[in-house]
Amino acid sequence: MWVKMLEINIIDAFSDNYIYLIRNEEKNITSVVDPGESTPVIKFLNTRGWNLDEIINTHHHHDHIGGNTELLEIYKSKLIAPIYDKTRISNIDISVSDNDIINIAGTKTRVIHTPGHTLGHVCFYMENENCLFSGDTLFFLGCGRVFEGTMEQMWSSLMKLRSLPNETLVYCGHEYTSSNAKFAKHIDPDNQFLEEAIIEINNKRRGGLPTIPFELGKEKIINPFLRADDQNFIDNFSLKTSNSSETFRTLRLKKDNF
Ligand SMILES: [Fe+2]
Repeated sequence: MWVKMLEINIIDAFSDNYIYLIRNEEKNITSVVDPGESTPVIKFLNTRGWNLDEIINTHHHHDHIGGNTELLEIYKSKLIAPIYDKTRISNIDISVSDNDIINIAGTKTRVIHTPGHTLGHVCFYMENENCLFSGDTLFFLGCGRVFEGTMEQMWSSLMKLRSLPNETLVYCGHEYTSSNAKFAKHIDPDNQFLEEAIIEINNKRRGGLPTIPFELGKEKIINPFLRADDQNFIDNFSLKTSNSSETFRTLRLKKDNF
């Protein structure tokens, strides 16, 4: 059996962002995913006495890269970011594109280009650790708003993520779960699995705990944005359209105005 090598620490930032600090103790490597601000990361590193070896960005939005400059200055880290954002993210050392296999925190990681929220957005998948850093593409019970890409692109990006193994644990960029749950329940009120997930989510939030990570396998049956091609789901909720990306568009627009 494969033993997980990495410790993944969740750091709160701004009002609802998450920054992930990945630690490989054996190889003495520390990496951060999407440091929107530097202060909480520096604080955390100080409490453990770790250096910061790598900074990883999923996309160019300020709430994901705002801490880059200061962290790079202090720790002389390597910056890994999507090649598609090379004009919008400064000081990239390693630019990555779709299907690249790279090392993050000393662990084999596959880059998955997921245009939609932004055109250059990428996710990072660590097969041996069963984990996915999904940025603002896939959220617990939701997905990112489509700002730069088309609805078709976002749908096909979500399908790429959906094809990963069920046991994958997803670490996304925001704690939007409670509001996503309200929409999911509105659109899919009779889903027993969703009902059970919401009870668990409410318990965690009441205790001030993050709802992250979440399991991709469960998500495939409770996240409406992963079900735009699920005939039962579509029939139940009169979302009939000519194809699944149109259904996805309908859902996304409904959520935007919810
Ligand atoms: Fe974003």
